[in-house]
Amino acid sequence: MNARLTANEARTAFEQFEYDGWKKVAAAYHQAWGHTTSPFAVPLLDIARLFPGARALDVATGPGYAAAIAANAGASVVGVDFSETMLEHARQLHPSIHFEFGDVHALPFEQGYFDSVFSNFGVQHFVNPARAFSEVARVLKKNGTWAFTLWAPDHLNKAGEVLNKALDLHARGASPVPTGPAYHELDDLESLARLLETAGFEATSVSRELAQYTWLMKSPAELFQSELIGSVRSGARLREQSEAVLRMINKTMADTIGETYATPDGFALPMAAYVISASKR
Ligand SMILES: C[S@@+](CC[C@H](N)C(=O)[O-])C[C@H]1O[C@@H](n2cnc3c(N)ncnc32)[C@H](O)[C@@H]1O
Repeated sequence: MNARLTANEARTAFEQFEYDGWKKVAAAYHQAWGHTTSPFAVPLLDIARLFPGARALDVATGPGYAAAIAANAGASVVGVDFSETMLEHARQLHPSIHFEFGDVHALPFEQGYFDSVFSNFGVQHFVNPARAFSEVARVLKKNGTWAFTLWAPDHLNKAGEVLNKALDLHARGASPVPTGPAYHELDDLESLARLLETAGFEATSVSRELAQYTWLMKSPAELFQSELIGSVRSGARLREQSEAVLRMINKTMADTIGETYATPDGFALPMAAYVISASKR
């Protein structure tokens, strides 16, 4: 592979915040979120059009869940992330997979190299999705597949709804998150298809499906804990609240989960994500 250097441009405040944030939460991420993000890598890889020997790239690989599924399917896979700490975890979890440092906005690969590029929950963290999509298109072969997941809007993804309602009720002060792309700015399918077309994908190839997964919890406080220790944006908001406010947020979240999602064995919280794919023109 013809490695290009990662863009050495000054990071925007939002980029720096995301970069620092992933360094901070990397150690906790696998425990906090791996059990809910990795199940969505299965429908993601179902539409990534892999075949034995396919050259595949997992961008924003984190602990490498999607890369591992691709490797098991016989693809020749590389996982890329801009967090060195995440990459260390990925290498420990999957020693036989090749992981390397890279920013999705300036991927260290030559043009037209990959058959399939995918990202499980990376896109909602990119400072410039349009530029990231163009970079993905650049490294894909003609007709190659780009597949990615986005957390669905809160009315479908109840983890987001429970958290955001409690934050709206109790959180104090302005959000510490610098201005960047809105978390759900790619929810509108027509605008998303236009963005993908501009980046080099076939407009008619864009498909979107809803995938669902139920988070089975033993304690109604699990969501709060995961957000507190393993999230970048909502975690930063939580971590700057006082102890008293955190207790109120935790209680409101646990009460909602206890009242609405209790089962005989614990709690069952519905999670949902869009699974999107497009073909390179
Ligand atoms: C929500 S985690 C998803 C991790 C993993 N793919 C999963 O399935 O759980 C987002 C990941 O995106 C990475 N990331 C964010 N912005 C990035 C960028 N510009 N380039 C490369 N990786 C990025 C973070 O370091 C983090 O590992």
